[in-house]
Amino acid sequence: MQVVVTTDQEAAGEYAADIVQRRAEEGALHVLGVATGSSPLPVYEALERRALAAVRAARAFALDEYVGLPPGHPESYRSVIAREVTDRLGLDPARVEVPDGSVEGLRTAGARYEELIAAAGGVDVQILGIGTTGHIGFNEPTSSLASRTRVKTLTEQTRRDNARFFDSPDDVPRHCVTQGLGTILDAREIVLVAIGSRKAAAVAAAVEGPVTAMCPASVLQLHPRVTVVVDEAAAAELRLRAYYDEVFAHRPDWQV
Ligand code: F6R
Repeated sequence: MQVVVTTDQEAAGEYAADIVQRRAEEGALHVLGVATGSSPLPVYEALERRALAAVRAARAFALDEYVGLPPGHPESYRSVIAREVTDRLGLDPARVEVPDGSVEGLRTAGARYEELIAAAGGVDVQILGIGTTGHIGFNEPTSSLASRTRVKTLTEQTRRDNARFFDSPDDVPRHCVTQGLGTILDAREIVLVAIGSRKAAAVAAAVEGPVTAMCPASVLQLHPRVTVVVDEAAAAELRLRAYYDEVFAHRPDWQV
């Protein structure tokens, strides 16, 4: 796992976009995995400025969706992805997928989503955020480290964290459909972005703690190609901070 500490969220977005751009230039970016929430927004803004043809031509898969929001609800992840990713990056909407969070489709939503990802050839670069509970996607603590796309129940903490996007905390759905931890680990490369002091404990647990379902993001330690891009505040609880800076300062030319 490589940890890159940047001065601020804009720099974090630029660094994560550098990774996506490098893969695009290598001809290795056909399927992009995209997260919602606020952390990846600087990445999408940076990619929008770069207007890369390979990104425009890519397929995209979202990580998760709330269950039961009416179609067209502005905070459904289908709407958020359309606004923040598809429009900004100039993707073809027909090539952007979000799990089916409709109540009628729930029984089969997970399996259908897994099939779609497999049929697309798998995810080349997965952008991730991290929740204060240590979740990635909406895999809350005690999620199976081998889980596949399925329905999950959000923790009260995550519902509180996400209440800022809704008129009232009670409006935040209790359930979601999320890629599993096993699904996320299948991506060829993963870039996790974390911004702000509220993420510091989760970042430290994910990077330096034991691999445990109590901190689902810690499963990323089992993946061979992960970059964790954080700002100073999110890096505050990392014990090996000096080492990460040294690794970064002496990174080989070919490495982004
Ligand atoms: C989003 C997602 C979540 C968020 C996480 C952090 O699709 O799956 O894991 O990345 O909740 O959210 P923000 O970035 O809003 O703090």
